[in-house]
Amino acid sequence: MTYQPSNPALEASRVQWEAAAAGWDAHSPMLRKWLSGPTRTLFDAAGVAEGQSVVDVAAGAGDQTLMLAERLGPKGRILATDLSPALIERLKRHAQDAGLDTVEARVADAQDVLSESDTFDAAVCRLGLMMLPEPSRCLSSVRSALKPGGRFAAMVFAEPDANPCIRILMSTAMRHAGLPPRDPFAPGGLLSLGRPGHLDRLFEEVGFREVSTFRTDAPFQLQSVHDYIAFLRSAAAPVIAILSKLEPEAQEDAWRDMGEQLSQFTGPEGWSGPNTLLVTAGRR
Ligand SMILES: C[S@@+](CC[C@H](N)C(=O)[O-])C[C@H]1O[C@@H](n2cnc3c(N)ncnc32)[C@H](O)[C@@H]1O
Repeated sequence: MTYQPSNPALEASRVQWEAAAAGWDAHSPMLRKWLSGPTRTLFDAAGVAEGQSVVDVAAGAGDQTLMLAERLGPKGRILATDLSPALIERLKRHAQDAGLDTVEARVADAQDVLSESDTFDAAVCRLGLMMLPEPSRCLSSVRSALKPGGRFAAMVFAEPDANPCIRILMSTAMRHAGLPPRDPFAPGGLLSLGRPGHLDRLFEEVGFREVSTFRTDAPFQLQSVHDYIAFLRSAAAPVIAILSKLEPEAQEDAWRDMGEQLSQFTGPEGWSGPNTLLVTAGRR
């Protein structure tokens, strides 16, 4: 059955990610270089071990799914879900190309209840939870899909001051689009779960136990700021969406402005954009 989102906000998000799917996927090697260390931290926080059954929520094109499959080995099982059919198609292709028969992939809103209950040993979500208008619904759904004692770990961006690149991108895009500044903590925004302690509380409110957060610096290291802008222009769905109403020339101005501001992170070794991530985990 074809998945049909019924809610306009959700449909808008799906459209954004469909448009950015090819760009996100094309940058998988860059994402792997940036996030492989924090992704191992994510798996450790979820207690992921060989032979387990794991759900990977908002899995995108599956970069972390492939890392997960490697850790689980041939006896493991992964259910990867994402809102975007184009990303799920890409994830399936990567799993097939890697000869993996342990990965099942499904288009789904992460806020909807999973049909599996008491099923998974662990669950992970890499840079997806903060995009959801109602992250608590996702937390509840994942919690009931876990076996008792199973762990869920989610990676999100930390607070705005610790993520100046994202802060600059969002504020510059909004200004060029003629929109008022957005509350960075408003639901669904890239930094929405970054307020210290907030995500821990959400985990606890839906019943997770032993909740803790690990904070990690993950600078995005590239040869130049132009590589970062090129990545954003094809893959950063929320920023692309804000600028999409502008004429092409006005969009160019906005990207140029972002590039100029972000060049402050250029040093002798190239460009190093500061990013801080939170990995919050809890046990069912
Ligand atoms: C920043 S990307 C991260 C993708 C992947 N986890 C990774 O790290 O490469 C955010 C992902 O969240 C997905 N997403 C956004 N809203 C969603 C929702 N309501 N339900 C499921 N996935 C969603 C997008 O389609 C996109 O793949």
